Amino acid sequence: MRNEIADSSCFARDLFAAAICGKLCAVKILVAITGASGALYAQRLLDNLNPREHEIHVVLSNYAQQVVAEELPGGLKFPEGVTPHSLKSMNAPFASGSNPPDVMVVIPCTMGTMGRIAHGYSEDVLQRAADVVLKEKKKLILVPRETPLNLIQVKNMELLLLAGATLIPANPSFYSGAKTIVELVDTVVARVLDHMGLPNKIAPRWAEEKE
Ligand SMILES: Cc1cc2nc3c(=O)[nH]c(=O)nc-3n(C[C@H](O)[C@H](O)[C@H](O)COP(=O)(O)O)c2cc1C
Repeated sequence: MRNEIADSSCFARDLFAAAICGKLCAVKILVAITGASGALYAQRLLDNLNPREHEIHVVLSNYAQQVVAEELPGGLKFPEGVTPHSLKSMNAPFASGSNPPDVMVVIPCTMGTMGRIAHGYSEDVLQRAADVVLKEKKKLILVPRETPLNLIQVKNMELLLLAGATLIPANPSFYSGAKTIVELVDTVVARVLDHMGLPNKIAPRWAEEKE
């Protein structure tokens, strides 16, 4: 059984090693967007990644396009320098264990995609990339969105945690006093960036008690 804490510290050690040899900026990131409610989470993550510092790839599931059309009136905006990929393209660089991303984020993540990743389906390049990231012991972050949850979904979450994935549910926090939807969304995106190992100040942090 893999140990999630050990895997996270491996990832942190990789970043540290890269930092001391001056290569911290070269993090290869795959942002996968699926058809769960919360397309804005994906947009805000893309808005807060710098393609001049990082190699950023994006892939959307077929249903993601439908939800983006419902939830983002202007459509999804890819910052310049981000590379989009077709779901059917197994030629994408991250489809092979010889060239995996350092970190993959599925945001938002449907229960369907979560289940397919948990059971190793690998039917398209999004699922294959997740499979590769897990087998190569890179960082896989899922941002699931569903409520309520059934037992199958909870068991899939358990399986993914045991396989080394990180789950950051799309549950915004309210203690920061967010005034807008974007600020609420950013309370989740900030945690995703933290777990990607990328410094950020997009959401206020819980202050230490002052006595
Ligand atoms: C507007 C809209 C919102 C949806 N929200 C969710 C959701 O929050 N969570 C979820 O698991 N599925 C949600 N679905 C259903 C998924 O899109 C559907 O199960 C689809 O097959 C998932 O495919 P994918 O995992 O390849 O994106 C939603 C669908 C639509 C049209």
